[in-house]
Amino acid sequence: MSSHGTPIPMTSRPCGPLTGEARVPGDKSISHRSLILGALSVGETEITGLLEGQDVLDTARAMRAFGAKVTDHGGGTWTVNGVGTGGFAEPDQVIDCGNSGTGVRLIMGAMATTGITATFTGDASLNGRPMARVTDPLALFGTQSHGRSGGRLPMTIVGAADPVPVEYTVPVPSAQVKSAVLLAGLNAPGKTVVTEAEATRDHTERMLAGFGAEITTEETETGRVITLTGQPELKPQKIAVPRDPSSAAFPVCAALIVPGSDVLVPGIGLNPTRAGLFTTLREMGADLTYENERTEGGEPVADLRARFSPDLKGIEVPEARAASMIDEYPILSVVASFAAGDTVMRGVKELRVKESDRIDAMATGLRANGITVEDGPDWWVVTGAGHGNVPGGATCASHLDHRIAMSFLILGMATQTPVSVDDGGPIATSFPVFEPLMAELGAQLVRDNS
Ligand code: S3P
Repeated sequence: MSSHGTPIPMTSRPCGPLTGEARVPGDKSISHRSLILGALSVGETEITGLLEGQDVLDTARAMRAFGAKVTDHGGGTWTVNGVGTGGFAEPDQVIDCGNSGTGVRLIMGAMATTGITATFTGDASLNGRPMARVTDPLALFGTQSHGRSGGRLPMTIVGAADPVPVEYTVPVPSAQVKSAVLLAGLNAPGKTVVTEAEATRDHTERMLAGFGAEITTEETETGRVITLTGQPELKPQKIAVPRDPSSAAFPVCAALIVPGSDVLVPGIGLNPTRAGLFTTLREMGADLTYENERTEGGEPVADLRARFSPDLKGIEVPEARAASMIDEYPILSVVASFAAGDTVMRGVKELRVKESDRIDAMATGLRANGITVEDGPDWWVVTGAGHGNVPGGATCASHLDHRIAMSFLILGMATQTPVSVDDGGPIATSFPVFEPLMAELGAQLVRDNS
């Protein structure tokens, strides 16, 4: 099933060279945070290049429900008139975050230290995902949560009317958990301190500083220690959202595996906490170059040029890199299928609690398409068949997971026979222009029932 509609079965046929420019949409992580921080500021925040995927639209709707004025001016330009730190109003409806773990977890954090109550729900994927990782630290502020068994949605959060600041060490590498605690800390008096053993994406820290909060990050022996001083007055910002490296991954990887391809993907954010896939691909022998490297809005940005890479080889991906490419393992496993030898991915237990169990979803679908995959609780190994040798031919389940659907459709561009997915609907959560953008490059994607 797609998140809010009937399934959209799709097929990808082996295609000729992919060429041209792929302008991928705005960064999903930064888009969510722009809306939420805009809603917590006093005055008008202007956002250009906002990702208008379903996940972010659900967050926009939620911010309205909490009292912010959120306006779509067309063409990716939005304004948010915020209510100020601690100014959220109690929503009169259940907050439906659709498919988005980032949306629900960040919003729970943002309302947790305001004396209001809100009930959250989502689609079948989101309602199966663990929320205790967020509600446990929120309880330290004085927040209560009442969810289903296993700490799952639907869930009611009773915000702490008199929150206390907390010191918390994030037990799993998760930017969502870190961000939820920081956003809750915004409305607690005094200093909230979050420690993470492994560095995860740092957009919340960077953006909070941009909005005028007092926030410091220190690298210590135990990891990154982030200290936020509560109850700041956040000042509205003008935000130009960079293009999403996690979306760029799809046309980049397609170009590497389709013979003769040469694709330019301009203006991609290369924040080191996000760019691990591109480093990995280069280690595998990918012809992937960074052009026109520059800094935009404090973030490193480059145009990526990806060309067909006939000599890809499997590698062992360093575990320490996992957080910086956590959303990219599904598409990496597709590239690994066309490489020579084994690609070994360890320390990736978190993949099992994403929009789907991504190790299981990819391993099952790759095997059905003729690739050998071994997997364990926190590791998997893909044995590449080499270019031209991947059979294809199977229909894969996308499990309400946009990245699984897109990964299998990219696979089908270079297999011997077409590859299908049971539902391409979830792609709209993060990459609503995936189909026309890939078709423009030369991909052959069809909706099977149209
Ligand atoms: C995100 C954090 C990551 C990532 C997700 C976006 C964010 O999730 O997988 O797509 O914007 O903070 P985790 O925090 O669960 O690792």
